[in-house]
Amino acid sequence: MANTVLVGLQWGDEGKGKIIDVLTREADIVVRFQGGNNAGHTVEIGENKFVLHLIPSGILRPEAQCVIGNGLVVSVTGLQEELAGLEAKGIDISDRLYISDRCQLIFAYHCMADGLKEGQLGDNKIGTTKRGIGPAYADKANRCGIRARDLVRPAELRRKFYIEGAKYNRLFAEFGADQLDLDAEWAKVSEIAERLAPMVADTTLLLNRAAVAGKSILFEGAQGTWLDIDFGTYPFVTSSNTTVGGACTGTGVPPTCIQEVVGVLKAYTTRVGSGPFPTELLDATGELLRTKGGEYGATTGRPRRCGWFDAVASRYSVMLNGVTGIALTKLDVLDQFETLKICTAYELDGEVITDMPSDSEDLARVKPIYEDVPGWCQDTSHVTCYDELPARAKSYIDRLMELIGARLQIVSVGPRRAQTFEAPKK
Ligand code: GDP
Ligand code: IMO
Ligand code: MG
Repeated sequence: MANTVLVGLQWGDEGKGKIIDVLTREADIVVRFQGGNNAGHTVEIGENKFVLHLIPSGILRPEAQCVIGNGLVVSVTGLQEELAGLEAKGIDISDRLYISDRCQLIFAYHCMADGLKEGQLGDNKIGTTKRGIGPAYADKANRCGIRARDLVRPAELRRKFYIEGAKYNRLFAEFGADQLDLDAEWAKVSEIAERLAPMVADTTLLLNRAAVAGKSILFEGAQGTWLDIDFGTYPFVTSSNTTVGGACTGTGVPPTCIQEVVGVLKAYTTRVGSGPFPTELLDATGELLRTKGGEYGATTGRPRRCGWFDAVASRYSVMLNGVTGIALTKLDVLDQFETLKICTAYELDGEVITDMPSDSEDLARVKPIYEDVPGWCQDTSHVTCYDELPARAKSYIDRLMELIGARLQIVSVGPRRAQTFEAPKK
């Protein structure tokens, strides 16, 4: 398999975990390159349902090596919980999970600061996952974050933890918020640090050496393109580069080592948290998409906002990421709709535009222009190859690909491994 980056092309939750699990069959190494445990990547295998937050979804294939790249912000307690959860389900992780020594660590004070900031924003809140992602990336940019390298130097970790913890406690005091009990938190952290220390490595060397040795690397993106800190619907975004460039900066693997970019697209659109969403449906149809698609957050359980497929914004995502193939997911969720709508253009201040505006306030004002497409009103969840799809489902997919200017590579018609098939090569 070629070295492949997989990214979400919408607002996250496109089904990346499922597609990563399928592609890992042919990969030697799976690496996460940005974000943290704000991600919730679901993989269903048999009766078991796994939700991965920090650990690459490739961990569920026993032969795969997995890497938490330098671009992540890693919750020490979150990672420990996730490891324990996987082990309880019989997944053997020993000697195949590596944590970049350059990762930034998230501590309880980051989560408390995240919650405090959201509270202060009131109605303008971003609707974060409150996992401390923004504060941890801010510390990284402010050059006061604590890196995973210190997990193997307990005295240094302790020194920095108390300095940073005290700084946050002063901030909490200023706003009359609860303080973090640093001693109690340190007792927890120091115990976990000992467990994690053997996994800490210079993963940039590891990955580059593996690439030279001809091993294949799968880069697992988290969140989605429209949540990118630069290209997303700022400020209603996450704090990392969720787009393809993040794969290089978040691992230390150069772009010349990457051959393919798989963009994961849901056959409709969802979003969790605040911010503009041109095709959002606030009616019974939106509710139907939510129910049929099980659209509730894998990390926070929040109901996801739902709407029709947005070809304008998706075309922008295809361009930004240099997508070489699309993995189209959740087609089965549309099985019962008699008519489907695709947003093909926007109207902004009386003008028709076909490119996604870069400004969120403009995007909040656009009105979607729809094209109606007949539904197929047939169950596709048992379909096992492209040719078996109803003709109208194929027409819907063809139209999406035509509008976004991309090649279809994979179709997913359910959460399980077997509910996936390749598209014919055109
Ligand atoms: P991720 O964050 O991109 O990995 O996506 P999530 O795991 O947060 O959300 C996707 C949800 O849809 C999960 O519950 C998956 O099990 C489920 N899923 C993935 N692909 C399909 C599909 O093709 N059809 C259906 N019905 N569900 C799917
Ligand atoms: P996966 O990888 C969907 C959203 C939050 C919020 C914004 C900022 O499962 O697709 P943050 O906690 O990152 O500061 O929140 O980003 N968000 C996600 N939405 N899927 C995700 O991850 C998300 N991770 C963050 O809801 O709007
Ligand atoms: Mg998710």
